Amino acid sequence: MKSQDIRKAYLQFFESKNHLIVPSAPIVLKDDPTLMFNNSGMAQFKEYFLGNGTPKSSRIADTQKCLRVSGKHNDLEDVGFDTYHHTMFEMLGNWSFGDYFKKEALAWAWEFLTEVLKLDKDRLYVSVFEGNPSENVPFDQEAFDIWKQYVPEDRIILGNKKDNFWEMGDQGPCGPCSEIHIDLRTDAERAAVSGRSLVNADHPQVVEIWNNVFMEFNRKADGSLEKLPAQHVDTGMGFERLCMAMQNVTSNYDTDVFTPLIAKIEQITRLKYTSNEVKNISEEQNKINIAIRVIVDHARAVAFAIADGQLPSNTGAGYVIRRILRRAIRYGFTFLDTKEPFIYKLVEVLAHQMGEFFPEIKSQQNLVTNVIREEEASFLRTLEQGLQLLDKVVAETSGKEVSGAKVFELYDTFGFPKDLTALILKEKGYSYNEEDFEAELQKQKARSRAASEV
Ligand code: ALA
Repeated sequence: MKSQDIRKAYLQFFESKNHLIVPSAPIVLKDDPTLMFNNSGMAQFKEYFLGNGTPKSSRIADTQKCLRVSGKHNDLEDVGFDTYHHTMFEMLGNWSFGDYFKKEALAWAWEFLTEVLKLDKDRLYVSVFEGNPSENVPFDQEAFDIWKQYVPEDRIILGNKKDNFWEMGDQGPCGPCSEIHIDLRTDAERAAVSGRSLVNADHPQVVEIWNNVFMEFNRKADGSLEKLPAQHVDTGMGFERLCMAMQNVTSNYDTDVFTPLIAKIEQITRLKYTSNEVKNISEEQNKINIAIRVIVDHARAVAFAIADGQLPSNTGAGYVIRRILRRAIRYGFTFLDTKEPFIYKLVEVLAHQMGEFFPEIKSQQNLVTNVIREEEASFLRTLEQGLQLLDKVVAETSGKEVSGAKVFELYDTFGFPKDLTALILKEKGYSYNEEDFEAELQKQKARSRAASEV
């Protein structure tokens, strides 16, 4: 099944269960001081959970563009190195605002996965919240009993607060959750080691695909929990992971969400990406694969953020976007030998592939293309010199910690975001002194304040 059809099947299924289908909210949040980007489908509905407004319908479903690059939910460091984390991803979600609760939510999740998509029941595991006495939240007996109707008991896992109590951020709506995981390993692997033991254990082929949150609380600024005025359902399914399961592949990057972008990079660089099915690849090929995964992931994040109105800049959300793009540029430069702008060429592929469902990427295609090309050209002007300086600094460092002042110079003069420098240093086995960096940054701020006062 093609990714476009999987998305449609989800929305049609929930439409048939009387949900109103709404468009994705923009990736960039303008009016929530607790969050820079939409990091989950529920963010646009936060006020409804808190009881501060009434939604158009008590049942809503959509696919939401999410970005997990800052704050509580941040996957940036994993991207490219594994096959199933992303900065930007689509989250398929259905919501009940004081309408249905656990019974319907779990029954429909199961029906959609096993009867509509016909995923193999034997590959699915579910989890429920074990409870947390110190916060007075009990074991989720109700979810456990519901799951027992569908799943053998040895496939129901009890999870702790980290895995089974979902929170939007440090503050905001939250509640116990029930996750659905899928085991995509071969039959032989599954016979040898039980999937149950690999749930939530960072195994790339035993991954969470869907989270059903039962929103009952609000986490307040002082850290305490208060009961919400009503009980709600908030679900989120990782679209790219679902595509992986449905397309019988073992990497999100081998689905048709990513293969057209990868093909374009192959065409531009004349290098080859090897799918996850190809084993025993060389060290060099592995580096190429990582770089290509980083670039296709980051290109989507940056393109959609720009299409939603967030231009790269030197502060706030704009700087996050610039940092993501600079990471991608450097991966290309070092591992794919791309010395000219090229990432902007992926926008056309994205517009073609996703424009039907997300019209903004089509209507903003020229702007997005031009902004990315300019950003690439500008960073490429200083990247090579900065990398040379970094090599020199490393060569002259006696221990394993580089001076923060040098990292500041790279930031200030060569436009290297400090996390990019940290990443390159890590590849070489080095770190840097963060305090020195901060001290230099403060000195510079004081200098520019003084200058503006003259
Ligand atoms: N809000 C829940 C999540 O992001 C569904 O996992």
